[in-house]
Amino acid sequence: MPVPALRPYALRCDHRTTPLGIDEPAPLLSWRLASDLRGDAPAAYRVRVAERPEALAEGGRLLWDSGRVEDPSAIGAGYAGPALRPRTRYHWRVEVWSQAAAAGEESAGAVSWFETGMTVPSRSADRGGPDEPAWRASWITHDPNPIAVMDAPTEGELALDDHGLAPCPLLRRAFPGAAHPADSPAASPLVRARLYVSARGLYEVRLNGTRVGDAELAPGWTDYTRRVQYQTYDVTELVGPGENVLAATLADGWWSGFVGFEPRRAGAHYGTFPQFLAELHLTHADGSVRTVVTDDTWVTRTGAIRYADLLRGECHDLRQAVDGWESPGYDDDGWSPALVVDADHRLLVASVDEPVRAMAEIRPVSVTRVSPGTHLVDFGQNLAGRIRLRVDDLAAGARVVVRHAEVLDDKQRLYTANLRTAAATDVLIGDGRRHRTFEPRFTYHGFRYAEISGIPELRSDAVLAVALHSDTAWTGSFDCSDPDIRRLHACVEWGQRSNFVSVPTDCPQRDERLGWLADAQVFLPTAALNADVAAFFTKWLRDIDDARTPDGGFTNVAPRLAGVADEGAPGWADAGVVVPWHLYRTYGDPRFLSRALDGMRAWVALIHRHNPDLIWRHRVGPHFSDWLAPGVPTPREVIATAYFAHSTRLTALAAEALGHHDVAQEHHRLAAAIRAAFVARFVTTGDADGVERAADAGGTAPAGRTGRAETAEDTPRPAGQVRLAGDTQTGYLVALAFGLLPEHLADGAARRLAELVEAAGPALQTGFVGVALAAPVLDAYGRADLAHALLRRTEVPSWLFPLRHGATTIWERWDGWTPEGGFRAPAMNSFNHYALGSIGEWLYRGVAGVDQDADSVAYRRLRVRPRPGALGHASARYESARGTVAAAWRREGDRLTLRVQVPPGATAEVFVPTTDPRSVRELAAAPEEGAHSTLIDTGPGHARYQVASGSYHFTAAFSPAAPTSAGPQEEDTP
Ligand code: BGC
Repeated sequence: MPVPALRPYALRCDHRTTPLGIDEPAPLLSWRLASDLRGDAPAAYRVRVAERPEALAEGGRLLWDSGRVEDPSAIGAGYAGPALRPRTRYHWRVEVWSQAAAAGEESAGAVSWFETGMTVPSRSADRGGPDEPAWRASWITHDPNPIAVMDAPTEGELALDDHGLAPCPLLRRAFPGAAHPADSPAASPLVRARLYVSARGLYEVRLNGTRVGDAELAPGWTDYTRRVQYQTYDVTELVGPGENVLAATLADGWWSGFVGFEPRRAGAHYGTFPQFLAELHLTHADGSVRTVVTDDTWVTRTGAIRYADLLRGECHDLRQAVDGWESPGYDDDGWSPALVVDADHRLLVASVDEPVRAMAEIRPVSVTRVSPGTHLVDFGQNLAGRIRLRVDDLAAGARVVVRHAEVLDDKQRLYTANLRTAAATDVLIGDGRRHRTFEPRFTYHGFRYAEISGIPELRSDAVLAVALHSDTAWTGSFDCSDPDIRRLHACVEWGQRSNFVSVPTDCPQRDERLGWLADAQVFLPTAALNADVAAFFTKWLRDIDDARTPDGGFTNVAPRLAGVADEGAPGWADAGVVVPWHLYRTYGDPRFLSRALDGMRAWVALIHRHNPDLIWRHRVGPHFSDWLAPGVPTPREVIATAYFAHSTRLTALAAEALGHHDVAQEHHRLAAAIRAAFVARFVTTGDADGVERAADAGGTAPAGRTGRAETAEDTPRPAGQVRLAGDTQTGYLVALAFGLLPEHLADGAARRLAELVEAAGPALQTGFVGVALAAPVLDAYGRADLAHALLRRTEVPSWLFPLRHGATTIWERWDGWTPEGGFRAPAMNSFNHYALGSIGEWLYRGVAGVDQDADSVAYRRLRVRPRPGALGHASARYESARGTVAAAWRREGDRLTLRVQVPPGATAEVFVPTTDPRSVRELAAAPEEGAHSTLIDTGPGHARYQVASGSYHFTAAFSPAAPTSAGPQEEDTP
């Protein structure tokens, strides 16, 4: 039997690899596809689920069998078998049949598994079934009164802090473990141990002294008044014979620590003291299950961690360390009984994303002694995380203080003014013993530099930085000939790494670190190319949903935080619509839409209710406008109304995708009416006679981000002058990107946009809202040359200006620091904000050319249209939900080669850049291979091919001298 070329790989359950402890009753089982054959495409799939892996073999006892499903577009199937039981591992196998396979040819398959958590809520189909087994654990804690429990400073010491944070509670419980055959030959051996665990606060658990799992800052941030996540760990290998010990350390975290930008007392947001919940399930070979649960049999005290706070930092006093408390054999006489807080489990949910983990270790690029006992460490990279420091010979009571900063001032000292009230200071107090490693456990900082005092000679191998972020698998890579642009891409990536910490935050350093909706919304297209963010955003969409106001509004930040204005602003709250739509298009999972549709509709209805004339003036929240835009501000109503139209249209598309045609029609009609109102209210046209007229709304151009009609692109048409109220770049950008203008106005508006960009430098005059749209819109309207000019610009405002001045992440402001003005006002000047990094999307889609059609879902119909500009080469590779997508082009002399990879089942429209369209060839290895690529047409600057799946190699004449927008060829520079 021939080995099938088409094979599924990268099996996922709810967008995660072999997740442990899910509570989704109908998880999505998905796969990607690979094949060495051109034109390969799936014809059908079959998914089988069983409790035992052997049962997946033909004839085995299955729990669910989808049967053979003829669906050439499928890359996943929702589980539709009998109700899943809690705490159970399920094995699954997918088979895929190729369309190209000869009749009777075998399918190819792959296997994976998932495991359910403590409970699995009933699906609507299962209602009336048996009740879910409940948690038996109670929430326990050390001391419900955290204020002023800190020990008074001993003589000669400074008070550690005056913020009222309490020491971290330690909790322990001994229990008999796996029976050892030597002790009890008849005992049934332990076959499986699972720990289900959560905290109101942060936890770290050890079993017999060994750390359980590698999650940091667990259980992650949610609005704990609505939802508390728990995690599941396989601890089978950690349980031993005889006495075993479960040990937990708790910290305040987002639950009861300082959060957000108000220097509030701990506990002002969610809770006042950290609490812990755990169930350990020990399953024996005979089927018996023993449990160890948190209750009043646990004992507690405090130890070395005198406080730990996300903003303030962490203090370890080694003199108060309790040796051996996490292991068996320790005598916990004298510890207090844990206090049972309550047994409310209603808000507990299994976490749906991968946790924050320590993702990279970064060695210093320099360690400089700045004064006796004080060193400045430069890690060469701005990041979110903490340091790990080896300390030898720290006298009892002596302290090491670690302060953090993103940048240095002009005297080469830490610049910390922009951290506002975030002290970001970690302290280690010695106990006189040698060789200690200090690494804070319940805090993180945004920093590139650390100033470490209290160590006379700091060796550079004694310290490193540990980067922490949510573990989102990296799916994208980008490369090009310009080292500046390569570095820009790296800055964008590091902005993402530093700010995807349980939620997408605005910044990791100052007293803010909030899940601002607009920042995430504009950055999502970039983020979703860099990494697989499906699970990460599944979780955050729940945060957005939890945060919704009673009148149906989305908020500005999620998770919701008391004290931060709830009323959502244009472009911010609209993330509640934009984010699920983009995730659906990227990953093809309709649940992104079905879970969000009610919220989307309520949001549109709310704005409509407050603005019956369709110009969004009322209920605009704080209205941040085009946040941090230099130059003339864009009229707020323009941005607001543009977003109103955009959200309404996306709601219509979402309803359409879900088959709710009436809802779709209703929203399409409303969106058309808003567009017409936008044009009538904000657009004027001037003719040659100079007379200004209100524009005629007519039929609108498609949303311009990727969807403009192809043919007109390279042939500018004359049109009357088009002016938008305010006449700002961002005004034109939102109007064009969201398809608000009729075709006859869109070209004129695009021309005006280009004029404004050119007149400014060429430079942008946009803030967070406009910046993400600039390169894609200019490109869509035939001005990729201008997009390239913006990319290469090095003065303020530009992406490369910060890089020229040492940036390793994207700055919050175009001019966060300038040689003339120094630092901008410290009140708001982060050097690690990803919003302006939304250009990352165009590096993949424009420069390298990896894109999908405007109406393609999950990369089924690709559009490969590289924009060489003056670059010598560029390439991007992206692990899409369907399989690998790649484009790589290179100019050599007067030729250009373009290599393209299209995953099985997908097709691509490939625009080969050329100065002579007749010269373009596709280098098929054999004639039958050639059948999979067809020349469609040629236009100025390109030849357009339609190709099936597989790998393709095009060559074309590309003469530097010819009059194209490409400009002179740039030499490759290292
Ligand atoms: C944040 C931004 C956010 C904005 C709202 C700032 O403080 O850092 O990124 O979007 O507030 O205007």
